[in-house]
Amino acid sequence: MKCSRRTFLEAGVALPVVLHSAPELAAARPSSPGSSQDSSFDPWVEIHRENLRHNVVEISRRVSARPILAVIKNNGYGMGAVNIAQLLEPQPEIFGFAVVKLHEAFSLRDAGIRKPILLLGPFDAQNLADAVARGIVPMVYTAIGPVLDKIAAKRQQAVSLHICVDTGIGRVGVPYHQATPLVRDLAGRKSVHIAGTMMTFTEDPDFDKEQLRRFTETCTALETEGIVLGKKHAASSFPLFQHPDAFFDMVRPGMAIYGIYSENEFRHMGIMELRPALSLKARVIYAKKLRKGDSAGYNRAYMAKEDVWVATVPVGHADGWPRVAAQGAKIRINGDLYPVIATVSASHSIVEIGAEEKVRVGDVATLFDAQSGSRPEDVSEACGASVYDLTMHLNPLLPRSIV
Ligand SMILES: Cc1ncc(COP(=O)(O)O)c(C=O)c1O
Repeated sequence: MKCSRRTFLEAGVALPVVLHSAPELAAARPSSPGSSQDSSFDPWVEIHRENLRHNVVEISRRVSARPILAVIKNNGYGMGAVNIAQLLEPQPEIFGFAVVKLHEAFSLRDAGIRKPILLLGPFDAQNLADAVARGIVPMVYTAIGPVLDKIAAKRQQAVSLHICVDTGIGRVGVPYHQATPLVRDLAGRKSVHIAGTMMTFTEDPDFDKEQLRRFTETCTALETEGIVLGKKHAASSFPLFQHPDAFFDMVRPGMAIYGIYSENEFRHMGIMELRPALSLKARVIYAKKLRKGDSAGYNRAYMAKEDVWVATVPVGHADGWPRVAAQGAKIRINGDLYPVIATVSASHSIVEIGAEEKVRVGDVATLFDAQSGSRPEDVSEACGASVYDLTMHLNPLLPRSIV
């Protein structure tokens, strides 16, 4: 039987009947900030408060209690920047937060976040004035001294900023070999308070050493002139494992805070014990037996070699679940892991259950969580999706609940 788009639509309109016959399914859903119009089958994201706390303590131990500037950009790595900031702010290990988008910085202040916020992303002169007025600290790497003079004059107060030095990543930052005149210029202005100086590694282990040398030499030369550079920081999650010599005055991780190893090999190094702080879940919407020779997915990507049970989970690439999941990822249902088969479409994935009907409509399907076998790193290893895509690409409209 050919499985058309229409077939899926018809299955969709049958859902309320399913719900009606099983009202406890909706009630069984965890408390969620999503609107009451979300179906109880729709995917949701869980944020694990205790795992977040644990990871921060673990990072702090690793960096000998240096302050942690928590990177919560891109919607807090999929969990919601405000959610994460509110959970992390009370922890004394957290110095402040870093975001890329100006609107994220403002939304943190709107939500009552009081710790320092570093804006890693771009701004124009008006944006800058607005940001400074709300205590948001810009990352600077061009000759914007005159703009800073005007803002400071109006406020009667120096503008705090961090200077970004490009030691080889080549995206933003003043090139290290041109940094000295820029830093001298900024440091010489009454309008400027240099609160920090930073760089980003390329995460190429050999070149990282050269980057570190460039940064250290640049900073040392400036400090020898008497210039105060504020807190120096360079370490995102990768250097937490690889470069203890780059911890400087503060560290700047994202992924490690969320309990996910940015490289799979880090899992087995015993350097930090990280616990994933986010899960992606949904409920099975349909389970059926394919007959030998039946197909599933667009282009009939899956052909049943024998009679086999399959289940449909209402999560697809529009939710942030990558298309490559169909190339090896597994989904946990009732404690067992089942392979994603066929194709991941915008709103659906299909899993192969096997010869027996082990899965029923309404069962919780876990796409990733903190359990071994279904951690984000396991999904990444199985199908090649980056853990950064698994988290940051989660559709911001999915309901998030803190558990
Ligand atoms: C400038 C900067 N610092 C820190 C981070 C945090 O990186 P990670 O999530 O790998 O710890 C990022 C993220 O890409 C970044 O762009």
